[in-house]
Amino acid sequence: MNANKALWEKGDFTRIAESMRESGESLVGKIGITDGLEILDLGCGDGTTALPAAELGGNVLGVDIASNLVAAGNARAEARGLTNLRFQEGDASDLDELGDESFDLVISIFGAMFAPNPSVVAKEMVRVTKPGGRIVMGNWIPNDPTLVAQILKISSSYSPPPPDGFVSPMTWGVEENVIERFGAAGVPKEQISFERDTYTFNYPGPPSELLGEFKSYYGPTMNAFEAAGADGREADLEAELGTLFDEQNSNGDTTSIPATFLRVSVDLI
Ligand SMILES: C[S@@+](CC[C@H](N)C(=O)[O-])C[C@H]1O[C@@H](n2cnc3c(N)ncnc32)[C@H](O)[C@@H]1O
Repeated sequence: MNANKALWEKGDFTRIAESMRESGESLVGKIGITDGLEILDLGCGDGTTALPAAELGGNVLGVDIASNLVAAGNARAEARGLTNLRFQEGDASDLDELGDESFDLVISIFGAMFAPNPSVVAKEMVRVTKPGGRIVMGNWIPNDPTLVAQILKISSSYSPPPPDGFVSPMTWGVEENVIERFGAAGVPKEQISFERDTYTFNYPGPPSELLGEFKSYYGPTMNAFEAAGADGREADLEAELGTLFDEQNSNGDTTSIPATFLRVSVDLI
């Protein structure tokens, strides 16, 4: 079994995605989606960005490695009556089933960053984008003090060391790496721009309940709890994450936690 696929099928990311809907919609509103634009959303989950992109008139294909999330995305598209939105299984490291120069816009928000072989992923994203098209990525930033970068950092400190040759997804949050990867795919750095942006995680209960969702449904955190449990360190992990969620929350009894990410735009000519 592909370890990357197993990681994301292990939990149920739809439970976390529920807290990200407003930010997904707001991001999609900022990236120039117009009627009839051919859009690929890569590592789309259940459609936090794909669905509002389709509502803005794009013809959207969501591709994700996790079959449960593809099914959830298709169910959401059907429930909204969106005939211009469909989801299928696929791997950002090998988009064989998609033709060259097929999309005006390729979006990947905290998606392709999790695929192995980042250089191959950059090449695949460039290959399927039309000349004159754009790639927009959202990538968490290593050592950033906000929520998700810290969850991933804390989780990895309780997990076994990764296998040899593993490239951390967080390396996509460093501008030099992004320039190097797209450079190797033939895109000069003048065509790549960067912005710091924010996603806010909103949840109707207290931060401890949102942490409970991560513990039970977010693959990387689930694995960390399993590893910590095997080492007798589960309570330490719970306490460390609990402090993080409480300290970052600005909303009292409900939860609203902002998280900073690197927004990358790659313009193809
Ligand atoms: C943090 S979630 C983000 C999902 C979605 N973009 C969103 O913003 O809600 C990461 C997503 O990337 C997907 N993913 C991870 N590795 C992938 C790969 N190699 N190819 C395609 N999708 C992948 C996961 O299945 C998961 O849906």
